[in-house]
Amino acid sequence: MRMTTLLAGGAALALMAQGAAAEVTKVHEKGLKPYEIVDGVSIPKPLTDKSGDPKRGAKLMVARKKGNCLACHKVVQLNDYPFHGNVGPELSDVASNMQEGEMRLRLVNPKVLNPDTIMPAFYHTEGLHRVKKKFKGKPVLTEQEIEDIIAFLKTLKSSQ
Ligand code: HEC
Repeated sequence: MRMTTLLAGGAALALMAQGAAAEVTKVHEKGLKPYEIVDGVSIPKPLTDKSGDPKRGAKLMVARKKGNCLACHKVVQLNDYPFHGNVGPELSDVASNMQEGEMRLRLVNPKVLNPDTIMPAFYHTEGLHRVKKKFKGKPVLTEQEIEDIIAFLKTLKSSQ
């Protein structure tokens, strides 16, 4: 039994390496740049050509009207800021546990991963209940802001 499982796993890996097993979903959403979800778990390609700025990312995570991530997540590297929530998992070691593409999908639209999540979709315009007119049809974060936050998340390793 064990052998069979191992072999099957090996075969799946080999297929993935050739790109044959990857299932790509193209997402075209009104007002947003199109992007691709691979195997339902990852957006491997950055949303912009310009690489993210981790310092700006940290500020966006703290800003109440932008990421407001600390309302739900604890991040020891941001301990200069008060009031970290514990609704979501601690992110202080997130770079050891997650690939960049998984972080990107999580920020863009976490409902793809978990339809019942209370984490907001930050790069998504449909089905958003945004009351103020000036925000209508606009995502909470721009594509560059998403990349800035990912650049910061990639620095979060608690062993350092
Ligand atoms: C309203 C609460 C809330 C806010 C605000 C929020 N999150 Fe989350 N987040 C969650 C919850 C709850 C989960 C657990 C997974 C789930 O619900 O599917 C999660 C999961 C995550 C994960 C996956 C962590 C893991 O170990 O699996 C990452 C990364 C993440 N959030 C980053 C962020 C960032 C960055 C922001 C700000 C831009 C943010 N979150 C804002 C609630 C929130």
